[in-house]
Amino acid sequence: MTNRIRAFACIATVLWLPGPFAGAADESARLTIDTSKPGATINRHIFGQFAEHLGRGVYEGIWVGPDSAIPNTRGIRNDVVAALKAIKVPNVRWPGGCFADEYHWRNGIGPRDRRPATLNPNWGGVIEPNTFGTHEFMDFVQQIGAEAYVSINVGSGSAAEAADWLEYLTTPQPSALGKQRAANGHPEPYAVALLGIGNEAWGCGGSMTPDHYVSQLKVYARYARNYNTARKMQRIAVGPDGADTGYTRAVMEAWKTRTWAWDIEGISLHFYTVVKWPPAFKATGFGEDDYATLLNETRRMESLLRTHEAIMDQFDPERKIALVVDEWGAWLAATPGSPEGFLEQQNSQRDALIAALNINTFARHAARVRGANIAQMVNVLQAMILTDKAKMLLTPTYHVFRMYVPFQDATTLPVTVTSDEYRHGDIHMPRIDAIAARDAQGRTWLAVSNLDPDRATRISVDVAGTRLKRAHGETLAAARVDSVNTFEAPASVAPKPIQAQASGGALRLALPPASLTVVSVE
Ligand code: AHR
Repeated sequence: MTNRIRAFACIATVLWLPGPFAGAADESARLTIDTSKPGATINRHIFGQFAEHLGRGVYEGIWVGPDSAIPNTRGIRNDVVAALKAIKVPNVRWPGGCFADEYHWRNGIGPRDRRPATLNPNWGGVIEPNTFGTHEFMDFVQQIGAEAYVSINVGSGSAAEAADWLEYLTTPQPSALGKQRAANGHPEPYAVALLGIGNEAWGCGGSMTPDHYVSQLKVYARYARNYNTARKMQRIAVGPDGADTGYTRAVMEAWKTRTWAWDIEGISLHFYTVVKWPPAFKATGFGEDDYATLLNETRRMESLLRTHEAIMDQFDPERKIALVVDEWGAWLAATPGSPEGFLEQQNSQRDALIAALNINTFARHAARVRGANIAQMVNVLQAMILTDKAKMLLTPTYHVFRMYVPFQDATTLPVTVTSDEYRHGDIHMPRIDAIAARDAQGRTWLAVSNLDPDRATRISVDVAGTRLKRAHGETLAAARVDSVNTFEAPASVAPKPIQAQASGGALRLALPPASLTVVSVE
């Protein structure tokens, strides 16, 4: 595979030029967008991020402190903020993850030099300095233009502690906690858009049976109140671990028979592209076996969503409760030499396609999947951004999120794709994966991946009932599927502009092997 991809790289610049594709591409793929049957809105919150106190995700990745030589605003690094603003991050989930169920919020408020040093037993057993706490997080989300998704501690905290945190965050009243927040620098109440009621209660969040969690959920959902009426808060219950339906059924059954005293607006699903534990797939230097296996594993997201949606439909046919995939992404073998428990990994063109496949899957389930958070935002797992002291780079996955910005809150349009399969050994899957949507300005957008790492494709695009004139946008391709960006070569994998004019009554797009193309068509 490697040689063939290398050979393709030599002609790639030709393929990105406008005009008919002149290379040895397969011409069999056809794609039709039906604008007459608009579907559900792609909730912008499916493009959410996750920032856990884990490794260099928060400390160094976001927070460098006001006295750092790295340019920052109130301790938060400016380069990371600028990059995240550009992908219009809708929400950031914080402080975990497993960390959330051992986090005590009072350790993270007040003068920073008086905050206690605590431990982070989940992630390397390192010291947690608590310098990045409630106010720093809310400042960060405000700086990047996102909303807050706060996870409360159900595993080792108490309902009283969680209730106090919510009052501290959201009350406009001069209660003792409201006054304490003002004294700590923020007289106005904060807005909390999403509230996670625990994290992985079936695992690191307390190893609770579904019934035990449900009894906890009722208590926390009752007392963790939002007092800021300017922003309705969505409460997200712990839901399934991958294919296990125990939590899905228990939480939905409880919700169906809820009383006036408690409610929720969503349940979470966690599913990583990992195949087996401990994570062993390499982040770099891998071959086509790994490429095909991990893409195939990612495609399981489709059947998982169907499984859990079917159960949710039984109890909630009106789809009031959202399914929020608040942890997803490729979990690979850690970077050799990186600290134990820091979950550091490189990020390749393959991972960009894993992101695109997941996003397309969420969009196809937009009626029920109204939130998702990739794990994680900076320096951890399938990150958008990697940092090395003052240096920062954007990963291929970052570029995917930027290319998909037009799909935020756009309306899905049905797409029919006719193409053959990508096959490798026993693995086979459609070669082309695509979604289309109409944005608020009425423009039609298409996101199309060619998953075949060996063959370029020339695809013809039709919009039923319209004569298409042109398309323009960007293509993310790479010399190899394991191409990555490094601090020495930070732009090895970066999108390139693409334009196509219709000719002979047809609009054709040239799709390089293992690539993502996002275009508006008119
Ligand atoms: O994202 C890393 C960890 O994965 C999270 O802390 C946990 O919720 C999950 O198991």
